[in-house]
Amino acid sequence: MIAPLEINRICHKYASHNRHLLGVQKSMNLLWLLKACLDYSGHVAEAGVYQGGATAAMAEVLQVNRDSWHPLAQKKVYAFDTFRGMPLSGEHDTHKVGEFSETSLESCKKYWGENALLPYVIPVPGILEYTTRLDWLDKKAYCFVHIDLDQYESTLTAIDYFYPRCTGIMLFDDWAWHDCPGVERAIRERFHSNRINVLSAHQAFVICGTNP
Ligand SMILES: C[S@@+](CC[C@H](N)C(=O)[O-])C[C@H]1O[C@@H](n2cnc3c(N)ncnc32)[C@H](O)[C@@H]1O
Repeated sequence: MIAPLEINRICHKYASHNRHLLGVQKSMNLLWLLKACLDYSGHVAEAGVYQGGATAAMAEVLQVNRDSWHPLAQKKVYAFDTFRGMPLSGEHDTHKVGEFSETSLESCKKYWGENALLPYVIPVPGILEYTTRLDWLDKKAYCFVHIDLDQYESTLTAIDYFYPRCTGIMLFDDWAWHDCPGVERAIRERFHSNRINVLSAHQAFVICGTNP
C-alpha cells in the first residue's frame, strides 16, 4: 500500500520537472484517483502523453507499489500518443494539427530512463484511431486511465476503446476548459450526466464497470 506522504512526494517531484502541463492540483487529483484504483485488475494508461511527465508520476506510484508480493504490483503504464504533436483537428477543436510537437518518443524514453521508470512504461506511439485497433491491445484491461487529448474526435476514440476495458476510473483533463470545447462535448455524448463527476480543476472522472 502506498502511503499518502508518498503520493505528495511524487506529485511535487514530477511537477518540478516541468514535463507535464497539469500543475500540482491536477496532478494531485490524478495520483489520488490512481491510488484508489490500484486494487482493481488491469494496467494504467495515459492517452495524451506529450512530454511524459504525468506518465512518469503514475509510473513512480506503480514502482513504489512494486515491493509488494501482490500480483497487482505487476501493473504498467501504457502511454498512448503520436509523440509528434496533435494529429487531428476538427470543427469542435481549437488546437491545430502539429501543436504539442515539442516532444519525441526518444526524449520521453530518455526522461523515463533517467528516472528509472522505463520498466514500468509501455509506449504506444501513433495516432489513437490506429493504435486502439491493434490486436495486441484488444484484450488489455486498465484499472485507471488518464485521458488528456484536448480534441473532440480523439476523446471519443479514447472513450470507445478504454471504457469497456476499464475496471476503475477514467479521469479526463480539460472538462469545461475554453481551449478544449470538444472534450466536454465528447464526454457528454458518451455518458449520462449523472455518471460525470466534475472536479474543480477542470477535470472530470467516470467510474467504470457499468453501462455508460
Ligand atoms: C495536452 S497534450 C497532453 C499533456 C500531458 N497529459 C501532460 O500532462 O503534460 C495532448 C496530447 O495528445 C496527443 N494527441 C491528441 N490527439 C491524439 C490522437 N488522436 N492520437 C494520438 N495522440 C493524440 C497530442 O500529440 C499531445 O501530445
